[in-house]
Amino acid sequence: MALRYDFLNMMRNRVGAEGAAPEEVQALSGRLEIARRALRERKASGSLGFFDVPKRRPSLDTMRALLRKLDKEVDTLVVVGIGGSLLGTQAVHAALDGIEPTSRGARALKLVFAGDATDPRAVRDVLDGVDWKRAAINVISKSGDTIEPMSVFVLLRERLVKAVGRAKAAKRTIATTDASKGTLREIADREGYATLPVPSDVGGRFSVFTEVGAFPLLAAGINVEELWKGAAAEDAAFWKTSPIRNVPMLFAGLQWLLYRRGKTVSVLMPYAKRLQLVGQWYRQLWAESLGKKTDRHRNRVYTGPTPVAAIGPADQHSQIQLYNEGPPDKTVTFIEIDDFGVDVRLPEPWPDVEGVSYFAGHTLKEIAHIERQATAEALTENRRPNGTLLMPDLSGKSLGGLLQALMTATAVAGELWDVDAFDQPGVEAGKQNMYRLMGRKGR
Ligand code: PA5
Repeated sequence: MALRYDFLNMMRNRVGAEGAAPEEVQALSGRLEIARRALRERKASGSLGFFDVPKRRPSLDTMRALLRKLDKEVDTLVVVGIGGSLLGTQAVHAALDGIEPTSRGARALKLVFAGDATDPRAVRDVLDGVDWKRAAINVISKSGDTIEPMSVFVLLRERLVKAVGRAKAAKRTIATTDASKGTLREIADREGYATLPVPSDVGGRFSVFTEVGAFPLLAAGINVEELWKGAAAEDAAFWKTSPIRNVPMLFAGLQWLLYRRGKTVSVLMPYAKRLQLVGQWYRQLWAESLGKKTDRHRNRVYTGPTPVAAIGPADQHSQIQLYNEGPPDKTVTFIEIDDFGVDVRLPEPWPDVEGVSYFAGHTLKEIAHIERQATAEALTENRRPNGTLLMPDLSGKSLGGLLQALMTATAVAGELWDVDAFDQPGVEAGKQNMYRLMGRKGR
């Protein structure tokens, strides 16, 4: 079973004028077809590599060989990166670690994440929290120049060198970066680090299935082949399914339609704790791709939906008050998992206490589903458009499908909003200012 999208509560007959009318969805399907055609052409010209990553796949043999080369004492991999070079890995790791540790031939290493924080306390926690005699480092930066991961890497490397010596530290460092240019490439060549390439046609936030995510995930024992399988199936479905039955197209299309009706905030709310970081990953994907000052014709548009990461049921007791009764500027997309792979039935210790006996005999899976349903119903009653992405289970294959669908939806949304979804001038501006303020030569 594949990913499905229940969008009924996005429709006018459910949420009134706030929602989409059937004839609008009909008209939308024409636009979506045009968007897909444009993406097909751009892909053919070789610029949108992320679509094909799950099919062309990074070399498992190369990555496994790198893991085999690590000496036997290594039990921890410190993964250093930021933004698109880290968030996808963190999201998949949080979702699957311990669920599918079946990647044949891989050594399961403990992952420690760093490089996304430069505050001294956070960095000190990693420096002091890792047993460096047993650690290796995977430093990831496509540009090879980003100050946060690079400055943290310099510190972590120093600790590794102190613990095992320079030669062994070099053998235990893997740099994932551009194949031919950038500071990290230069350092890797100088120090003799093993390297993995970040494909030049895949942007950071679209790179989770490339070596960027695949290597550390493989190191953690996660079955990346299953991720690729699910993503490839989702990709195949995208190119051949009619817009009206096409999850990424419909998701992007309805977000766009309702954005123009004032729904400028796009909330993603999984009802599965293991998917919490998928929300963080989606937040970056949607924000950096669609938040733009100019459209593709250089008109000033200052456009883009504001993505919000929520989590059910915890945010029923935090955010839902606002979503139900605050400004009517949001769409909420739930993620529901059909089969968690485990379930627990609730006992009935106090049959005469109605406050706890009404849920006795129900299972936690039932409660999770009912909570999502109750929240969706309340939003609908308050005329707040909402939809649900339905995942069959919490497997690598299903997760691969979900992430590929959301990346594809982002590309489709770029076409609809008419912005370049694959650049990030606003991020670059900050990076350049940082170099200048830190006194980097030539900036
Ligand atoms: O999606 C993107 O392109 C960005 O979020 C980058 O991943 C982030 O800025 C880190 O860049 P780099 O991998 O060059 O260090």
